[in-house]
Amino acid sequence: MTARVSTGVTTTTLEHAIPGRKLRKPEPCTMIIFGAGDLLHRKLMPSLFHLMGDGLLPDDFAVITVAREQLDEAAFRGRVRDALKTFGPDGAPFDAAAYERFAEQLHYVSGELNDSATFDKLRQCLAETDAKMPRGRGRLFYLALPPSLYEGTINRLAESGIAPRIADPKQRPWVRVVIEKPFGHSLGSAGALNACVRRAFAEHQVYRIDHYLGKETVQNLLVFRFANSIFEPLCNRQQVHHVQITAAESVGVEHRGKYYEEAGVVRDMFQNHLLQLLTIMAMEPPVTFSADAVRDEKVKVLRAIRPITPAVMHDYAVRGQYGPGTIDGKPVPGYRQEPNVAPDSATPTYCAIRFMIDNWRWQDVPFYLRSGKRMPRRVSEIAIQFRKPPHQMFPIPDDYAMEPNVLAIRVQPKEGISLRFEVKVPGVEVKMASVDMDFSYAEAFGEMDHEAYETLLIDAMLGEATLFTRADEVEAAWAVVDPIIDYWSNKRPDHFPNYAAGTWGPEVADEFIAREGAKWREP
Ligand code: BG6
Repeated sequence: MTARVSTGVTTTTLEHAIPGRKLRKPEPCTMIIFGAGDLLHRKLMPSLFHLMGDGLLPDDFAVITVAREQLDEAAFRGRVRDALKTFGPDGAPFDAAAYERFAEQLHYVSGELNDSATFDKLRQCLAETDAKMPRGRGRLFYLALPPSLYEGTINRLAESGIAPRIADPKQRPWVRVVIEKPFGHSLGSAGALNACVRRAFAEHQVYRIDHYLGKETVQNLLVFRFANSIFEPLCNRQQVHHVQITAAESVGVEHRGKYYEEAGVVRDMFQNHLLQLLTIMAMEPPVTFSADAVRDEKVKVLRAIRPITPAVMHDYAVRGQYGPGTIDGKPVPGYRQEPNVAPDSATPTYCAIRFMIDNWRWQDVPFYLRSGKRMPRRVSEIAIQFRKPPHQMFPIPDDYAMEPNVLAIRVQPKEGISLRFEVKVPGVEVKMASVDMDFSYAEAFGEMDHEAYETLLIDAMLGEATLFTRADEVEAAWAVVDPIIDYWSNKRPDHFPNYAAGTWGPEVADEFIAREGAKWREP
């Protein structure tokens, strides 16, 4: 039996900003976004608009979008208005007056990114914007582009002189560049992209995005682990049996079949989001809460992950692909029936991997990571399953499966933390039951109303790089997943599709974890 127990969390807690992390308004700056696709309309513009509404954008802010489509500024602003209406916060009425103020800050430059004339036009637009504003403005360049255009754009940007390399992080005005995921397609290509970035910019100017790091609960993991004294002593090989990290999605590949065919779930979710969750969960306490101290510890975890060689692949990783099925009572197509997907595609849409971290803290503790599309629900969580009591003094009836203690950190949705433990059921008999003590963010602090992108955009403007991945970190993550991707790309699966849409993944994944004496949690 599992009962729910209220924690009685008191929200009269003293909230205190971490010194040095108090919300400051960024210095005046211009943001230059390359690309006017999905990311711009769905995430960047709604996030900027929301930040403006909250008074968090810098004074004298301007956004210049550079994209190939021939549009005048009025038409571009109209598109942004439509996007804000469609992708703004659910249920919130559209604030037309706020949009008018926002639109005044938007500019548009059309042109091909491989044409130096486009950069001349951008220079001109920057000069005109700068002329109307106070001097000494920062410049935040954002590559919201298909990855194939990154290197060319960075090279041309460097040649244009618009985004100079700056050695001293304290120099003003600042110039920074934000690069979206996927950062490379493999270790080799990520290394080449890093080399290109390094020729153009100093590392402190570069902000590689992984939007999971902007999620509230992912940041909370740092506070939860390192601002409490009672949990940290439990996070080690003496107490933990294994850790499960799940990122399940109910959506399929939607309109991204072309991209996904080349990416697959390991590149799309593991190299970045899931390994980020693993590193934050497994890292040693950083010496300070600063970008390099935190990232140094994360890199150490990635380097400690035991390499998975072809000979042992079967024991460490399984893959799957969804077939037709039902989600929320509605029939949905299989992956091979999605637009722009090959009818005999071998691309995995589900994967489960066991990672072993070869260091003192985590030796012999498996970290099971799984992610899949078209699963029954959207849910991401980290669950730490503790060891069983070494000796069972209570006579347990045959039909009672005593549950292990589990500390679960719900990343999304219903963000929160729960702890499962055994209690005695009231009564004259000695009977046990498993209960969950539950902390819910929404109950304690109200609904969260900030998107991950909002946090990340403000941090990039403030020059706060803790939530962005460093060059060595990205490469270390590729080094972890590359052998798995390579192994599978040389070995065609003969069993795809192997799970129906709307289920928790293929049977092989259940067998895989059962071999290790564990079981997937149903989050
Ligand atoms: C993206 C992946 O990085 O993350 C998508 O490319 C995935 O395939 C998405 O759907 C998941 O993000 P979130 O924030 O919805 O969990």
